Amino acid sequence: MADQSTKTDYLVIGGGVIGMSIARELQRRSAGRITLVERGVCGEESSWAAAGMLGAQAETDEPGDMLRFCVESRGLYPGLAAALLDETGIDIELDRAGTLYLAFDDVEREMLKKRVAWQKAAGLNASLLTGAETRMAEPFISPDVIESVLFPDDWQVDNRKLCSALRRYLDLNDVNILENTTVSELIIDGPRIAGIRTASRNVLAGTTVLAVGAWTPMIKLGAFAMPVGIKPIRGQMIAYRTAKRLFERVIYRSGGYIVPRADGRLLVGATSENAGYVKLNTDNGVRQLVESAQTIAPALIGHKIADQWCGLRPRSADELPVLGPLEGLDGAFVATGHYRNGILLAPKTAEIMSDAILGGPISDHLSIFGPGRFRTANARG
Ligand code: FAD
Ligand code: GLY
Repeated sequence: MADQSTKTDYLVIGGGVIGMSIARELQRRSAGRITLVERGVCGEESSWAAAGMLGAQAETDEPGDMLRFCVESRGLYPGLAAALLDETGIDIELDRAGTLYLAFDDVEREMLKKRVAWQKAAGLNASLLTGAETRMAEPFISPDVIESVLFPDDWQVDNRKLCSALRRYLDLNDVNILENTTVSELIIDGPRIAGIRTASRNVLAGTTVLAVGAWTPMIKLGAFAMPVGIKPIRGQMIAYRTAKRLFERVIYRSGGYIVPRADGRLLVGATSENAGYVKLNTDNGVRQLVESAQTIAPALIGHKIADQWCGLRPRSADELPVLGPLEGLDGAFVATGHYRNGILLAPKTAEIMSDAILGGPISDHLSIFGPGRFRTANARG
C-alpha cells in the first residue's frame, strides 16, 4: 500500500540506456523536476548485456527510414562521448576503427556486393576487400574468408561505461532516481496518465515516459491497450581474454560477431532466441557462439571462455522501434522496441522524444515509428 506521494514534472519508467538517455536530454533542456523509476539497478538489463556496436550499416538490410535513423544516431556519438567525458569524467570508449563484414562463400559475397551498392547509393562509406586484403587488415581472420566489406563508420562503444556515464550524469544533475522500485500500476485519471503506483509510494507526474524495454507488455494501461507486440528476444554472449589483442575492428558475419575491447576482452555474440523472460545461458547457445568465434578466428580454438551472460532485446511486431505519444492517453509517451540497436539508437531517440515531450519540432521519425502504426494495421487487418 502506498504510504507517501511524490510529485514530479517528468517521470521516466525504466533505467536502461533509453530511459536514462531521455532523462538526461530532458534535464539538459531544463525541463523541470525529473524522476526515473527503475525496477532493479539502472543499466543492468539489455543495455548491460549488449555488445556496444554502432552497426548502422552492418545491421541494416535495406535503405529507408530505419537506415536513416541509425545513421543519424551514429553521427551523434562523437559529440555524446565528448560531452559525457566532460560532464562525468567517464570515457565511454568510442572506438572508431570500423567494422569488417566477412563473406565465407559465393552467396555471402553476392549479398555483400549488393549491400555495398545500395549503401554507396545512399551516400555511405563501404569498400570491398579481397580475402588477402582482409587478412592484411586483420591477420587472425580465417583463411576461409573470400571477401569482406569495410564499414569505416560503424564504430563501437563500451555500453556498460555508457550506462555508468548516463547514470552519473543523472546523479550529478539532481534527477531523482528511485531504484529497486517496480512500477506496479499506472494511475489513470480520465483521458490521462497522472502517475504511477509502486509498493511504497505514488509518484504523480505531468508527463510519463514508458521506457521499460522487453518488459513493455507487463505495464498495464487499463482500457488503453498498447498493441505494439513487444517480445523479449534473448541474446547470449561469451567473452575470451587473449594475451595480445587479436583484432583492431569489430568483425561481423551473418549470424555472429566479435567485438574487441580495450580491456583485452573479445566479446562474441549473439544468439537470437524466443525464450520468454528466461534469462540464462544454455549449453547449445554457448556452443553456437564458440563455433562462430572459431569460424571467424581459428586461433581461438582451444581458448578458454572467460565470461558469459545474456540479455533480453525488446522486439516489436515489425522489428522497428516504437516511439512517441500514446494516442488516447494524455501525458503518456513510449520509447521501446529498439531490438538489436538500442545502444546505437539511444542518442537520437533521446533527442526526438525530448522534442515531442517538450512540444518542440516533431521529427518525421516519430510519424514513422509511432505506436499508432499498430492500431492502423490492426484496424485494416
Ligand atoms: P533495457 O536496457 O532492458 O532497460 C529497460 C529497463 O526497464 C530495465 O532496467 C528494467 O529493469 C526496467 N523495468 C522493466 N520493467 C519495469 C517496471 N515495471 N518498473 C520499473 N522499471 C522497469 N544494441 C546495439 O545498438 N548494439 C549492439 O551491439 C547490441 N548488442 C546486443 C547484444 C545482446 C546480447 C543484446 C541482448 C542486446 C544487444 N543490443 C545491441 C540491443 C540493446 O541492448 C537494446 O536494444 C537496448 O539495451 C534496449 O534498451 P532499453 O533501455 O529499452 O532496455
Ligand atoms: N546488435 C547485436 C545484437 O543484438 O546481437
